Amino acid sequence: MKRIHCLNAISKYGTDLLTGGYELTEQMDGADGVLVRSAAMHDMELPDSLLAIARAGAGVNNIPLDKCAEKGIVVFNTPGANANGVKELVLASLILASRDVIGGIQWCQSIKDDPNIAKAVEKGKKAFAGCEIRGKKLGVIGLGAIGVEVANAAAALGMTVYGYDPFISVNGAWMLSRDVKHIMTADDIYKECDYITLHVPLLDSTRGMISASVLQEMKDGVVVLNFSRDVLVDEDAMAEALNSGKVKKYITDFPNPKSANMAGAVVIPHLGASTEESEDNCAKMAVKEIMDYLENGNIRNSVNYPNCDMGVCRAVCRLTVLHRNIPNMIGQITAVLAAEGINISDMTNKSKDKFAYTMVDLEQKAAEEALERIRSIDGVLRVRAM
Ligand SMILES: NC(=O)c1ccc[n+]([C@@H]2O[C@H](COP(=O)([O-])OP(=O)(O)OC[C@H]3O[C@@H](n4cnc5c(N)ncnc54)[C@H](O)[C@@H]3O)[C@@H](O)[C@H]2O)c1
Repeated sequence: MKRIHCLNAISKYGTDLLTGGYELTEQMDGADGVLVRSAAMHDMELPDSLLAIARAGAGVNNIPLDKCAEKGIVVFNTPGANANGVKELVLASLILASRDVIGGIQWCQSIKDDPNIAKAVEKGKKAFAGCEIRGKKLGVIGLGAIGVEVANAAAALGMTVYGYDPFISVNGAWMLSRDVKHIMTADDIYKECDYITLHVPLLDSTRGMISASVLQEMKDGVVVLNFSRDVLVDEDAMAEALNSGKVKKYITDFPNPKSANMAGAVVIPHLGASTEESEDNCAKMAVKEIMDYLENGNIRNSVNYPNCDMGVCRAVCRLTVLHRNIPNMIGQITAVLAAEGINISDMTNKSKDKFAYTMVDLEQKAAEEALERIRSIDGVLRVRAM
């Protein structure tokens, strides 16, 4: 029986997948896997039984990734599981930036006791008129899980969509509608687009990417949408650009003391992924990742070990070894198997920074002594046979 401990409440759409062969346990001690959302794990004692941690969500700041890797614990997250939730709020924000729905609602509230409100709105509504998004140019910077969905949906709504991502994944490229124009430099987006939306991760190379000089390159009256991270934008420069009218609206999902007080900014309380469906999708994905790792040794969407997938285990025995990314690991592992006279039917090895993973399908079961010999190789962090 494999034991899973939930450190936070996890949607039952996820935990319901843990049927047959799994039980939920109240303690982390003795657990094979942990499901977590926001619980801070940095100071927690991690038991030797623990093989995997899956974070139902994208950010992993609450998990000590290196400490886990050193202990042979694979940490997973659920990228893209909340992409639709974010996409829908970006679409809503394109409209909110184009029509003064927010100002109009506030005005209605302010005259709600006027018995002639119906007449008053017909007279006064022109103050809140706006423009349509169809036919306007939208630049999408970053074509990952969210950017691709935003680009495709905006194209379907009749916008002319420019997409920019110099590192687009094969999957991202497959998913992208052919109505989206592939742009080779971000400058073309800054110069041409009426709306610009950011869907890049926070990296040294993206921090502050919307700088004062980039804002100056943009069209007058541009709308900038930020559903990625506040520090991607130089918010002092943004405040000035809003004041001068260079930027018509800045829509951000990240309130902070600057953005919350910025005239012309629409500040949303980080609601991008706050939908029931996003939570359910994250939980389902996290549980599936843990199950595939525990049952087949496959690593998909890990943040501290390389992704490595040999499909469902149909071999007599599958041996998996988490180890340091140093020379001669494969040689030493296969030498132990050769000495035991065990034939290898398939194998793969992948590395990610300091750590690596070797999966070996065997035609015979490996004896416990062979596993112990592999465990004793310098640089090996965890060995499993399934
Ligand atoms: N508002 C929210 O609630 C919410 C929810 C989920 C994610 N996010 C944010 O959205 C970001 C994107 O999420 P995702 O799931 O689409 O991530 P993703 O990893 O699937 O996609 C990011 C894309 O950005 C591209 N990229 C990296 N550097 C770039 C650059 N300099 N220029 C152009 N493209 C670049 C990458 O190649 C990748 O395709 C996340 O990093 C996170 O910060 C916000």
